[in-house]
Amino acid sequence: MEQLKKGRRLILFPLPFQGHINPMLELANILHLKGFSITIIQSNFNSLNPSCHPHFIFHSIDIGLAESGTSTKDPLLLLSRLNANSREPFQECLATLLSDVSKEPVGCLITDSVYDFAQSVAESLKLPRILLRTGSASSFAIYTAFPLLREKGYLPKQDSRLEEEVTGLSPLKVKDLPIINSDGPERFFNLIADLEIQTKTSDGLILNTFEDLEEHALATIRQVYPIPVFSLGPFHKCYPANCSLTSSSLLAQDQSCISWLNTQAPKSVIYVSFGSIAAIKETQFLEIAWGLANSKMPFLWVIRPGLVHGSDWLEALPSGFLETSTLNVKGHIVKWAPQKEVLAHQAVAVFWTHNGWNSTLESICEGVPMICMPCSSDQMMNARYVSDVWKVGLQLQHGVERVNIENTIRRLMVEKEGEEIKNRVLRLMQKANFCLKQGGSSYRSLDALIKHILSFK
Ligand code: UDX
Repeated sequence: MEQLKKGRRLILFPLPFQGHINPMLELANILHLKGFSITIIQSNFNSLNPSCHPHFIFHSIDIGLAESGTSTKDPLLLLSRLNANSREPFQECLATLLSDVSKEPVGCLITDSVYDFAQSVAESLKLPRILLRTGSASSFAIYTAFPLLREKGYLPKQDSRLEEEVTGLSPLKVKDLPIINSDGPERFFNLIADLEIQTKTSDGLILNTFEDLEEHALATIRQVYPIPVFSLGPFHKCYPANCSLTSSSLLAQDQSCISWLNTQAPKSVIYVSFGSIAAIKETQFLEIAWGLANSKMPFLWVIRPGLVHGSDWLEALPSGFLETSTLNVKGHIVKWAPQKEVLAHQAVAVFWTHNGWNSTLESICEGVPMICMPCSSDQMMNARYVSDVWKVGLQLQHGVERVNIENTIRRLMVEKEGEEIKNRVLRLMQKANFCLKQGGSSYRSLDALIKHILSFK
């Protein structure tokens, strides 16, 4: 790593959503610890406070999107507006940064993989570009099968075939295929086709995963894409916890979670959180509340403002419910939690999750078994892998109903089946730890990434 002494600057450009910002900032911390200086270009939509990350240089671009939440009925529409509005200000900002000769030379650009303009901007400025794919390798690899899945009639999804297993892709069912609904299926298919072209012409791909977890999907990706592929996850475990510096959370994390968990018995608490975007119906919300109350287990529940359609926060609960039910005695409700700390807490027994990729990986890394309630896109596939491939969690079968919830909690927390699931997730956790140690697959992949970046002239 002698060459690092010369100093190299990297420019990172995250997609402004929590599930994408976290892994990009984690990657920034990893590369910073390896001696790179980090410049982050961020838009004024869902932006981070630069003073929380004094070791990075921030540049803000105005993309003309005033609304700051992430709730939208059509995420693809929001994404295409983000792409359309970001191109020009991003290009201008990048050109200005590159022309500043008073700073160290820029090694390369690392952007979220879903920016559809970043490759041509990078090429026009003769800057190498590496992509960060923030989801699982499996949900990326499956895109390569989309033409065949369309030919065989599995896609677009038809309601009558949702429960059907996809031939050749067992145990995936049609409903698990990672599709984002929009005004029609073509918009998403075009996005995926474009992503494939962009990836092929990029200078490399980084994934937040590890070989032992997704060996098969990583092999598929390496076969299809003629570029270097680096799997160096789990990112958040790549540096010591006390080096994780400040959080990249867009919402304030309620630290009362930790003091409340400190009062609970070891391995007794169900942690419930559905990430930063998922929204549920009021009926589902009430079933969850009743299911938790009836389970009589202690729980920590993140109810993000906007989680329940049509409600600001808890209004959907019947009046007096919180005070009179076991919810009050057994539960602790917050708007946003320090999730990684919560999952690492000895009191947490189970994570009831929507299976966003970050949440899934964070749970595996702490050896916490999952109750899976995927809501959209890649979450369905992540959940299928959790329940049927790695077998480290259970899906809420037969829907979000209080009786099913109670049963699933009991299967996981009380019955022998749950014991086996816990043992498997602990073994997976050990593999996650091992891959980061000297000689482990992610350790080697990080070394290879650094050499690759330093090879750019
Ligand atoms: C989105 C998609 O939903 C997901 O499927 C995709 O893989 C990434 O983008 P999100 O829904 O927010 O992400 O889920 P997830 O990927 O789990 O990311 C959420 C992040 O927020 C995690 O890093 C988690 O630790 C953090 N979080 C969540 C908190 O810090 N506090 C909370 O209370 C809840």
